[in-house]
Amino acid sequence: MQALATAEGRADPYPLYDRLRSAGPVLPLGEGFTVVTGYAEADRVLRDADFRVTDEAALDRALPGWRSVASWRWLSRTMLWRNAPDHTRLRRLAGSAFTARRVAALRDDVTALAEGLIAPIATADAPVDFMRAVAYPLPVAVICALLGVPAADRDWFRPRAHDLTLALEVFAGDPDELARADAASDELEDYFVDLLARRQREPGDDMISDLLASGAAGEAGGVELVAHLVLLLVAGFETTTNLLGNGLAVLLDEPRHADRLRAHPELAEAYVEEMLRFDPPVQVTSRYAGRDTELAGVGVPAGTELLVVLAAAGRDPRRFAQPDRFLPDRPTAPSLSFGAGAHFCLGAPLARLEARTAFPLLLDRLPGLRAAGPAVRRDRLGFRGFAELPITT
Ligand code: HEM
Repeated sequence: MQALATAEGRADPYPLYDRLRSAGPVLPLGEGFTVVTGYAEADRVLRDADFRVTDEAALDRALPGWRSVASWRWLSRTMLWRNAPDHTRLRRLAGSAFTARRVAALRDDVTALAEGLIAPIATADAPVDFMRAVAYPLPVAVICALLGVPAADRDWFRPRAHDLTLALEVFAGDPDELARADAASDELEDYFVDLLARRQREPGDDMISDLLASGAAGEAGGVELVAHLVLLLVAGFETTTNLLGNGLAVLLDEPRHADRLRAHPELAEAYVEEMLRFDPPVQVTSRYAGRDTELAGVGVPAGTELLVVLAAAGRDPRRFAQPDRFLPDRPTAPSLSFGAGAHFCLGAPLARLEARTAFPLLLDRLPGLRAAGPAVRRDRLGFRGFAELPITT
């Protein structure tokens, strides 16, 4: 387990996940801490109400001073860190604005935004960093379009959204990183307070205006609404970026897959699902046991913290044959890369839309696409992705 906290372990955590799983799909590792690496076991933890997300009660027990940390205060107001019945209420409210119709209506915007980012790569006379050129700007532009954030503000968001994800990282607690996350949390909340006031005066055809019209600001309290706007911005940002980067890395490593997807863009759905399983952008999440219970024959006392390794569940040979191979034709079996149960990713349709649009477009517009040097991994465990992914055409 300690190996996962080292740079080498983070660079390629999959052999370490295998070792943990072979010691047991549910592995108690010391007082009050258990790691879950099996698919069936992780699925049960995510779906069973006995296992709860970190909430105020859990924070009060584990970290009595947590309210002085702005980014944890922000998280504790969001659905991500709330359990039923609060979670149910907040999820319904966000779901009413984040509809399939609204996401589907973004299809042309996503295509146009992706086209605009890919076109300059075709004519570039030097290698281009895919992360900087496409993987970062595309999700930010899409979520800003959805929320109704003016295009001119997008560049301001990127570093702040990045800093705020530091608060969500596993083993979060590094004082410098938390200070950056806190500053970002304050600035982003201030930004949305202003934007809400602006949309109150001048409504547009966007999600924020819809939420205001539905009375969400009153029902959830302005503070909760602002917290959720920040969540939507951040949750959809590093994650989709890393799906694009991790997915492209597979296509660059195995050019026959790039050729096949280029010839058969209709396979994009299957490719994206396999990318999500093979190298998930969100590797882990956590829960705690709300009461004494048992999991796969292992006793789990109330209060136990569970590290649920979604990426290890995706490589569980009991669920996926030849789990370490990238096989987009494998029988459809959902991975847990968007979670499962009550907290299943709210933005999954949007992330899928972006990836299913971007990969075929990229391969079509860049027929000579190939790697242009070594890719550089980010030294992060929870949000797995690349710092640099150089490409050429
Ligand atoms: C490839 C991209 C993405 C991945 C891999 C991903 C992954 C996840 C995972 C694993 C969870 C569950 C966490 C848990 O149960 O502890 C989650 C929840 C969530 N995601 Fe995503 N996500 C992605 C994109 C997005 C996007 C684009 C948005 C919004 C614009 C979004 C919004 C959310 C929200 C609001 C939740 C909390 C749901 C709840 O607590 O009920 N995500 N995501």
